[in-house]
Formats: sequence, structure tokens, C-alpha cells
Amino acid sequence: MKILICDKTEKEYIDQMRAAGLIVDIRDDITSEELPIVLPAYDGMVVRSRTNVRQPLIDVCPNLKVIVRGGVGLDTIDYEYARTKGIVVMNTPLASSASVAELAIGYMFMLARSLYRASSTMKAEKWDKKSFEGNEISGKTLGIIGYGNIGTETAKRALALGMKVIAYDPYVTSLNGVKMVTWDELLSQSDYISLHAPKTEETTNMIGAEQIARMKNGVRIINCGRGGIINEDALYEALISGKVAGAALDVYAEEPPTHWKLLKLDNVIGSPHIGAATKEAQARVGAEVAAKLIEFAKNMQPV
Ligand SMILES: NC(=O)c1ccc[n+]([C@@H]2O[C@H](COP(=O)([O-])OP(=O)(O)OC[C@H]3O[C@@H](n4cnc5c(N)ncnc54)[C@H](O)[C@@H]3O)[C@@H](O)[C@H]2O)c1
Repeated sequence: MKILICDKTEKEYIDQMRAAGLIVDIRDDITSEELPIVLPAYDGMVVRSRTNVRQPLIDVCPNLKVIVRGGVGLDTIDYEYARTKGIVVMNTPLASSASVAELAIGYMFMLARSLYRASSTMKAEKWDKKSFEGNEISGKTLGIIGYGNIGTETAKRALALGMKVIAYDPYVTSLNGVKMVTWDELLSQSDYISLHAPKTEETTNMIGAEQIARMKNGVRIINCGRGGIINEDALYEALISGKVAGAALDVYAEEPPTHWKLLKLDNVIGSPHIGAATKEAQARVGAEVAAKLIEFAKNMQPV
């Protein structure tokens, strides 16, 4: 079976695939213009978040049998269409949960104590102690939107910090002692809101001006889920007015972001979509991608 690696994948796992008999070519800088020319010669492809696999590309690859996405979301792949063409689409759903949850929790501390601003003043050789009275995390209510793998991992850590955790997820009933609440309860009761839902038609702009108006004054919002779930213009206005005291963003409606003035606000901290960017998560992703492809190839062999 011939596999095209379209995004960065650690060598160790490529070696594992080759050792199992797969023919693996690496084109981790391939462009969207080159893909329709190169990919038709392959039975399978490995993508991360850089490469989109849309319907027109699928249409020119009649030999394609498997797409493996190293990561969680499948929003970069027209996976339902691919499946109608008999292509198996797989991802690595658990590999990065702990890393993303840790980032969300880290952001909560940063927002509670204005750590980014405090550190910036020190680098500017300013001893501005009186500007930095923060809040404790303990005893506060964390509202989690999307109680899947990452939401659950975030909740576990927040409970260990003495927070009260509530969650809103229309597709999950109750888990691990976390109270599932209505949408209105989540918005109105949370001191911190952490987003862990996928981007779908239903979740796009699910937090806009009207939802923010129903939140507590001084709420802090963390988005390590997907950009576009929060309306960035509405968030910007709420951060200016102080309705939202702070926001931490790892993901954006467009990546790289175009709404730079949001990122430049004093009460916003951001990172360039690094939720899963830890050595541990990357190793788990690579191992899972290799294992899934090797298993797939075994099942393809005639008996
Ligand atoms: N920042 C990063 O680098 C990074 C890394 C990995 C994953 N993610 C994103 O985090 C998100 C969650 O990942 P996961 O592994 O927990 O996925 P998951 O599928 O395990 O959980 C997602 C949960 O969202 C729920 N959901 C769906 N529609 C909803 C709605 N309208 N309202 C509330 N909840 C809804 C689902 O029922 C599910 O329980 C994904 O969108 C993923 O793309 C980001």
C-alpha cells in the first residue's frame, strides 16, 4: 500500500510503517495545487491540521482508500463525502486530550492573576505590585461547553483545584460528578467558560453578543476548542466594555487570525493553535497514526 504523508510526522513512526511493509513517501510541504496531481498515485494519506481534503480532491483520487488525520477534529476533511466514496477516514481522538486540557487550565491561572501583563511589567523593569490583585481559582465555577474527551480531562483537573464544574453538552447526559446544566444555566452561573465543542453548523457563533449579555459580569472565557464558535467581534466589544474580564484564545475563526486588534487588547492572551503541541501528544498521535495504517493495510491484504 502506498501512503503519502502530507503533514509533519515524526520519523520514528514513518520507520514503523515502512518496517511493516508500507511504501511511504513524505511530502510534508505539499501545496493544495500539487495535491490533485500527486495524490492519485496513492492508496492512503496522512494529514494533520495543515492539509485540507475537500470534495474536488477526493473526486480526482479514485484509488484513495484511507485518510488518517493525526489529531481530533475532522473539520479539515469532507469526511462524509469521502465515506460515500468508500474511503475509510480515521483520526486519533484521545492522543491530545491531556495536552489541550492542561493548556486550558494554564490559561485559567494566567487570566486569574494577569500573569502575562505582570510578567511584561517585570521585563520592562517596572515594580507595579498594586496593579495585580487577582482572584483565586478555587471555589469558582467553571462552565465547560462540550463535555467530550477534552472537556472531561479539563473537568478532572478543575475539580482537583477545588472548582465547581458544570457542563453543557446536548449529547451527553452526566459523567464523573459534573453537573450537566442547561445552556442558560451555563451562561449565567460560570465564572470561567472553557470551550471544548467541535465546530459544526450548530456551534458556529454559538457565543455571540446575546449569549455574552446573559453571562456574569467579569466572566473569563477560554477557547482551546475551535475558532468561530465564539463570534470574535462580539467578544472584542465585551472585552472593551469589561463585561468579559479576560479571554484566552488558542484557536481563531481564521488561522492565522485576521482579527489582530482582538489579540492586542490588554485583557486577551493568545497562542497559535498549540493545544496539542506537546512532545507527549505528538508521540501519541504518531504512534496511533502508524498503528491504524498498519492495521488497515493488514486487513486489506487478500487472505
Ligand atoms: N486547540 C487545539 O490544539 C485542539 C487540539 C485538539 C482538539 N481541539 C478541539 O477540541 C474540541 C473537542 O475535542 P474532543 O477531543 O473533546 O472531542 P469530543 O468529540 O470527544 O468532544 C466534543 C464534545 O462536544 C459536544 N458537542 C457537540 N455539539 C455541541 C453543542 N452544540 N454544544 C455543546 N457541546 C456539543 C459533543 O457531544 C462532544 O461530547 C474539538 O473541536 C477539537 O477540534 C483543539
